[in-house]
Amino acid sequence: MTNRQGAVANGASPNGRPHDGVSPNGRPHDGVSPNGAHEAAPTPSRGAPSAARADGGDGNRPGGLAALRRALAYLRGHVRDATGAFIALLVVTAANLATPQLVQLAIDGGIKRKSASVILYAVVGLVAIAVVRGIFTFLQGYLAERASQGVAYDLRDALFTRLERLSFSYYDRVQTGQLLTRLTNDVEQVRTFAGTGVIQLSSSVVMLAGSIVLLLRISWSLTLVSMLIIPAIFVLLMRFVRRIGPLFGQVQQTLGRLNTILQEDLQGNRVIRAFVREDYETARYRGINDSLLNKNIEATRLLSNNFPFVFLLANIGTLIIIWFGGLQVIGRQIDIGQLIAFNTYLSFLLMPILTIGFLAAQISRAAASSLRIFDILDAPLEVTDKPGAVVLPPIAGRVEFRDVCFRYPSTERDILHDINFSAEPGQTVAILGTTGSGKSTLVNLIPRFYDVTGGAVLVDGHDVRDVTLSSLRARIGIVLQEALLFSGPVRDNIAYGRPDATQDEVEAAARAAQADAFIRDLPQGYDTVVGERGVGLSGGQRQRIAIARALLVSPKLLILDDSTSAVDAETELLIQQALDTLMRDRSHTAFVIAQRISTVRDADLILVLDGGRIAARGTHDELLRESPLYNEILGSQLQPELGVRRQASGVS
Ligand SMILES: Nc1ncnc2c1ncn2[C@@H]1O[C@H](COP(=O)(O)OP(=O)(O)OP(=O)(O)O)[C@@H](O)[C@H]1O
Ligand SMILES: [Mg+2]
Repeated sequence: MTNRQGAVANGASPNGRPHDGVSPNGRPHDGVSPNGAHEAAPTPSRGAPSAARADGGDGNRPGGLAALRRALAYLRGHVRDATGAFIALLVVTAANLATPQLVQLAIDGGIKRKSASVILYAVVGLVAIAVVRGIFTFLQGYLAERASQGVAYDLRDALFTRLERLSFSYYDRVQTGQLLTRLTNDVEQVRTFAGTGVIQLSSSVVMLAGSIVLLLRISWSLTLVSMLIIPAIFVLLMRFVRRIGPLFGQVQQTLGRLNTILQEDLQGNRVIRAFVREDYETARYRGINDSLLNKNIEATRLLSNNFPFVFLLANIGTLIIIWFGGLQVIGRQIDIGQLIAFNTYLSFLLMPILTIGFLAAQISRAAASSLRIFDILDAPLEVTDKPGAVVLPPIAGRVEFRDVCFRYPSTERDILHDINFSAEPGQTVAILGTTGSGKSTLVNLIPRFYDVTGGAVLVDGHDVRDVTLSSLRARIGIVLQEALLFSGPVRDNIAYGRPDATQDEVEAAARAAQADAFIRDLPQGYDTVVGERGVGLSGGQRQRIAIARALLVSPKLLILDDSTSAVDAETELLIQQALDTLMRDRSHTAFVIAQRISTVRDADLILVLDGGRIAARGTHDELLRESPLYNEILGSQLQPELGVRRQASGVS
């Protein structure tokens, strides 16, 4: 009953969610998971350094039990199932505890006194108890599973919702594989514990208490003697828990690293083939797979090492009982049936202790996973609506950068310095500069993908931090440097920002982006399904679909980042025509990271970035006259008029 995912998909209870807020263990909300291995992009050198960093491991962090308690609080959303399971459990336990009583009755009251009717009663009673136990064991298992599936559902739901809201900077820090592992495997660990673990734990406690009471009733002296072994067992278990807890954290952490490599390699499989790095990647994967295996084996070894001793102690307990109990039977202090019942209760007593021992491992594991889960849920939303943020009213499209400085959370130095400029409604601003000069960074500040570290970005006089993110971004159409499409029909991709758009609107946007013609040539036209990440389309086709997607939201601000690089001459011509149309269209203010002279020449304002500063500004003619840097860039970097392919000069 472990691996059924999502069986209770309706178990969501938004009100039952105890998260949001400060973690009870008082960890500061730094949101940086220690394993977050700062890797903005996969680079060839990624393996070693991040691995070294990651090895710090989640498991060594304190607060695991508090995190587990927090995770278990999700059971509150499934009170009915959980309570039902608990009641069923009480019934099963009571049935278990009653059985030896009836056996004792059959022996002492029936067999010894030669009374067939008492034996019959006892047997009927035993059968009835077996039936009850069967029914309630089923109920308990079923209800516990339902509750735990509900918890898993809620956790996944909360995690996904959080991931949808976390800022760009969070994704700069963490590895996708770690996130995937947390949503799948870590949730599963918590689920298993929330279902079977919690039930077993409570069952053990009830059994323990019940057995002790019944043992004392039979013979308190025998009970005290048999209790001697219990402290020894507890000492063993505690030692075990302390050692295995951190190990499980490391297991999850390593699993996350394994998934990170898997995910990167699946995504980058073309690059791997192209550079004949299959063996390297296989070795890299195998290395981490090995360390996962070793950690798992280490955990198993700890587990197996521990239990023989516990069993030994348990057996010593039985020996003691037979010895002392035997003497008491001979001395006629107790009956033989009582001794048998006593011995059965003693095993009932030891069973919960062993279960708690086994559970200790599961608890450690679930605690480590809970920590990893709450790492995501507690990660701060760096870019978010501030309290009292207002909805941005319809705008004309004026954009102003006022003394803007910017540094990525993960970088030491400022990437942008003292950026000052303003764009009037309907204008086109072209941004150029060498690679890495900060062009993409600059335009990413307008939709608030990141917050400025100094100064302010204003849209129609509103500081972008004062308005709601959704209302701000709804006014902006953006074509990112990498044109990413979703798997699905072309039509849906274009209508991604406005799912309710009509077919006519979709086609109009596609025409403006010079995409209509090639889409019609696709096998099913607008209904053609494009593969994951738009595989099946050329780079230029993807870009034009991305442009159409940006246009369809009728943005007041249009941002085109490098959207026309890496295409053939003919496509370039088409895209240029699309851009010309867009720039002549004065209904929006456009920011274009430019690649060709024709784009720049018609721009109302050209910003030349150099090392994160505006090195020169003006119109084409002004800059041509005044700026040596501009002339240099024109000469070396920008493509001449349409039609000539870009040189492979490292310019993007
Ligand atoms: N997410 C990030 N985290 C940290 N540093 C970043 C991040 N993105 C970019 N940088 C750094 O910021 C600087 C500017 O990058 P940006 O992407 O803005 O350059 P660009 O002008 O758009 O270059 P290109 O023409 O190659 O697209 C670079 O030094 C880069 O290393
Ligand atoms: Mg860029």
